[in-house]
Formats: sequence, C-alpha cells, structure tokens
Amino acid sequence: MKIMITGSKGQLGNELQSILKSGRSEIGEISPQYKGAEVIAVDIDTLDISDLEATDAFIAENKPDIIINCAAMTNVDGCETMKETAFKVNALGVRNLAMGAQKQGAKFIHISTDYVFEGVGTKPFVEWDGINPQSVYGASKALGEKYALSFNKKTFVVRTSWLYGYIGKNFVKTVRRVIREHGSITVVNDQRGNPTNANDLAHHLLKLGVTEEYGVYHCTGEGECSWYDFACKIAEYSGFENAVFPCTTEEYNSKYNVPTKRPEYSSLMNMGLICTVGNEMRNWQDALKEYISKVED
Ligand SMILES: NC(=O)c1ccc[n+]([C@@H]2O[C@H](COP(=O)([O-])OP(=O)(O)OC[C@H]3O[C@@H](n4cnc5c(N)ncnc54)[C@H](OP(=O)(O)O)[C@@H]3O)[C@@H](O)[C@H]2O)c1
Repeated sequence: MKIMITGSKGQLGNELQSILKSGRSEIGEISPQYKGAEVIAVDIDTLDISDLEATDAFIAENKPDIIINCAAMTNVDGCETMKETAFKVNALGVRNLAMGAQKQGAKFIHISTDYVFEGVGTKPFVEWDGINPQSVYGASKALGEKYALSFNKKTFVVRTSWLYGYIGKNFVKTVRRVIREHGSITVVNDQRGNPTNANDLAHHLLKLGVTEEYGVYHCTGEGECSWYDFACKIAEYSGFENAVFPCTTEEYNSKYNVPTKRPEYSSLMNMGLICTVGNEMRNWQDALKEYISKVED
C-alpha cells in the first residue's frame, strides 16, 4: 500500500508518520493492512498543493492508494490578510489533490475544521448541521470540503478542532512557554470547543482509510471546555500553580487587536464515527495528560 501525506512537516502529518512507522497509536494498534506501507511524505518544499500541474504530475508518477491531506494555511489571522493564499491552499489545493486522486482511483482523506460552522449554539454540531463560516479561514476550508467531495468519489472529509501534536506549534506549548517566561497567562473563558490530541485524530484517519465509509466526519476529543478550562488543565498537568487567569473575548480582542472572529461555541459530536468505524476518541483531559507527560518543550 502507498500512502501519500501532504503537509507532512505539520502537527498531524508528523503524527501520522510516527504511527505508521510503529504500527500503533496511543489508543492502540492500527490495521495490519498498513504493515509495510510505503509512505510518500511531502510538504510545501517538495510539493506545493496549490500548483495544479505539479500536483497532478506528482500523483500520476507516485500512484498512491490513499492521499491524506494535512497541508493547509492554518494561520487563522493570516488568512484574513492573505485571502488569495488561503483560497489557493485551502480550497484550490484540495481540489488539485482530489482531482489527482480521482484519476488514480485513490482514496482521499481531507482534514477540515470546526470553523466551517457559524460558531454559536449550545449543542454540539453533528455532521449534517448546516455550515456558515464567519472567517476567511473557515470559508476557504468550507470550499475545500466541497471540492474534496465533488472531485473525488472516494473521499473522507474529517473535521477536527483545537489540535495539538508533538511536533509543531500549538496552544498547549504556548501556554507552557508563556507561564515559564512570564509566570502566568490570561485566557478567554467564553469560547467553548473540543481539544483534540493529533495522535487520536491520526488513529481514526487510519481506521477510516481501510474502509469504504466515505463521507463527512467529526473527530474531536470527547468532552467540551473553554480555552480557559483547557489552559487550567495544561498548567495543572505541567505542575504550575495559580498561573491561569480568565478574561472575556471582548477584553482579549481589544487588548491584542485580533482581526478574526472566533467561534463562541464550536463543539463537535463524533456522530459519523459512532455510526461507522467506532468512536475511540479519548476524553480530552486523558489525552492531554498523556501528551504532557511525553512532550519535550
Ligand atoms: N491546528 C488546529 O488547531 C486545527 C484545528 C482544526 C482543523 N485543523 C486542520 O487540520 C489539518 C492539519 O493541521 P495542522 O495543525 O497539522 O497544520 P500545520 O501544523 O500548520 O501543518 C500544515 C502543513 O502544511 C504545509 N503547507 C502550507 N501550505 C502548503 C502548500 N501550499 N502546499 C503544501 N504544504 C503546505 C505547512 O507548511 P508551512 O508551515 O511552511 O506553511 C505545514 O507544514 C489542517 O487541514 C487544518 O486546517 C487544524
């Protein structure tokens, strides 16, 4: 089996490679079908997915059985100022991969986000809820979803949120660094969602990849919290005391001049997984605790 991973140097790309290498995630073993799989790992320095011709030629030459797209412009505020790049990478780049996958007969696993939803509510969003993105990042990812599903028949669109992996930048590492450097951190307490360990997400992507259960999925850590609750647990598991303070989004945005509207409520329910391959996503606190016991910075 040949598995092509785009955005392989990012958080999720790294996690997938490490699980494929060892044959197991923190949740458990992956399918024996992946044993001996050839991994073709690419990132922007080797393949810019927004280049249609290059993407088409790369897929035709390498003939992957599964393409997992972890490449994206994930800088949410950057997307507001660099709309064209956001559109090229998060929408057209996905189209290019989906078209290449279709020609090759490959399965296509594409990662999307909670930002496709309007971000208000009190009940977790399920896969059939209507989308209504409020930011350029969310809109570009929403179009990417549409292209992924339209241009390749064998597509899985998997939405996740508040992702952290061992390699790369994320909120967990930022909280730990700020507390180490400044003694404390102030975090918004009025935006709620689901922290997701990239290792758990990667496990489920690989679980889906050996099936034909194509369609849209949510895959986030079990249980919801605010960014403040998340930061409190990060501090607690890292051994910091009295280091996290709450604020409102309004206070935070006016202090730091934040250009992007963030979802107030974007908790996702993993309904698609429950109904197909099974939802083994860990409770967000357990997954975080293991991560903090292993992460190096
Ligand atoms: N991080 C989150 O909290 C979060 C939440 C919800 C959904 N997601 C989605 O989950 C997926 C994985 O996220 P992640 O956190 O692993 O992302 P990440 O760490 O930012 O990795 C993305 C990778 O894609 C690369 N890339 C950017 N533009 C590219 C292009 N034109 N061609 C090829 N590669 C390109 C990036 O390179 P550079 O670093 O050089 O730009 C980076 O190595 C993405 O689809 C993201 O939208 C993430």
